[in-house]
Amino acid sequence: MPKKTKKKKKAVFPKKKKVGRPRKIGTKKRTAWGVKRKKTSQQQKKQEDGFKIKEEAQILRGMNDIYGEDIMYWQYTLKKMVDLSERYGFNQIIVPVLERLFLFEKSAGITSDVVEKQMYTFRDRSGNKVVLRPEFTPSVVRAYIETGMFNLPQPVKLYYFGPLFRYERPQAGRSRQFHQFGIEVIGSEKPLIDAQLILFSQTLFNSLDIKASIQINSLGCEECRKSYRSRLVQYFKFKKRWLCEDCKKRLSKNPLRIFDCQKETCQKFTRQAPQLVDYLCEDCQRHFVKTLEYLDEINVVYEFNPYLVRGLDYYTRTVFEFWPDREIQKKSKKQRQRSLILERLGAQVALGGGGRYDNVVESLGGLSTPATGLSYGMERIIDEIKKQEVKITRPRSPQIFFTHVGEKASRRALKIFNELQKEKFKIAENFAKDSLRQQLEKANKLHVKLALILGQEETRNSTIIIRDMNTGNQEVIDQKKLVNELRKRLR
Ligand code: HAM
Repeated sequence: MPKKTKKKKKAVFPKKKKVGRPRKIGTKKRTAWGVKRKKTSQQQKKQEDGFKIKEEAQILRGMNDIYGEDIMYWQYTLKKMVDLSERYGFNQIIVPVLERLFLFEKSAGITSDVVEKQMYTFRDRSGNKVVLRPEFTPSVVRAYIETGMFNLPQPVKLYYFGPLFRYERPQAGRSRQFHQFGIEVIGSEKPLIDAQLILFSQTLFNSLDIKASIQINSLGCEECRKSYRSRLVQYFKFKKRWLCEDCKKRLSKNPLRIFDCQKETCQKFTRQAPQLVDYLCEDCQRHFVKTLEYLDEINVVYEFNPYLVRGLDYYTRTVFEFWPDREIQKKSKKQRQRSLILERLGAQVALGGGGRYDNVVESLGGLSTPATGLSYGMERIIDEIKKQEVKITRPRSPQIFFTHVGEKASRRALKIFNELQKEKFKIAENFAKDSLRQQLEKANKLHVKLALILGQEETRNSTIIIRDMNTGNQEVIDQKKLVNELRKRLR
């Protein structure tokens, strides 16, 4: 047989794509490479707005569903937070998700990133400019003024939990809808309260079994900031051309916000900048020293970070942030400082933060009232619990499985099931299945101690079978004696 000669394969190059405007052929709406489809109104809108519009039943970018195993972590964390807040004498407040735009512009400040770039703002049907709340503090202050909480014994101590919205670039630990738990103390200027909030956080992190470091600074009052601001402007004057476009603007509008910049070029200068703590007036200095003394007194370990300014404009005097302290723990002080800076630059995973905001109540129309508070990012705390491999207490699993066989039994099943629920037994079932085998399969998977079997005959005789799932032993008992029998067996 003649040997088959292998044909040399010709190199195939992809056809060059045609670029540019499609050429019209004749009068028909045909283009050189296909039929020109009429634009849908959505596509037209997309073109007009310059946005990509997706009409799909898909979750929005930066939003998350929370379900399954995660719920256990959420419930565990939230319970610890609520328990501690109530032990500290805080009462819960629930504020609306939707607020007036004015509230945040007036408090958090129009030069802060949150207000300037990240808010979900729109007009409601009455034409009000509204916003999906990007943080809780201004809402809590508004409620304090509007509901007359200033008439209550001061300070007023409130805690809250719920979703917030910030249109940021989603990345690890940063989403567009996230949740905060927070506490606010309105009506006291005492440094003891600032120290108490930090102690609260340390206690919380201990009870959640996560390691976190505390960074602290003082931003002084309006007066001390005035002289610091002019010193800062002077410092940046000759460095302006190396700053990013945003920071150039910040320099004239609100130079303190330059410290929020995440760009390495700007960070290079901020790390050498004059420190606000050197410009504190006597009162602010005293307040800060007292806060630190109280912390020393109760052995709270903190790190003084002279460049911590927080991202919102309303802060005065003490500010603080909490950062994960995983591998940082084992490092030397110098390495530790570097890690903190790197974490700040890259991962951006502060677990929470807060501070004093002594002017907000007045700026929103109340009397001059000092206040302080903090919030934790729930997602970040839960992430940390997982990363630090904390063993959390799982909810009690069911010990009894209820099964039923046949039409008559299914009618009685709900009645017995309901009675056992009322007696506080945790019972699992699979009412969606008719076959006993399928029902018991689920009982096996759940590793329950006892299974209850209600068949036609048992229904007729008002009895029920109790099956020990470990030994396989079964016993028929009177339905009236069921509660006592279960109590005895589960003791
Ligand atoms: P904040 O630093 O803007 O402060 O937010 C507090 C915490 O919320 C952050 O440390 C972080 O854990 C979490 N967080 C912020 N943005 C996101 C995001 N996009 N994705 C996930 N987590 C995030 C405040 O909101 C102030 N209201 C805190 C406060 C209360 N100050 C006084 N009282």
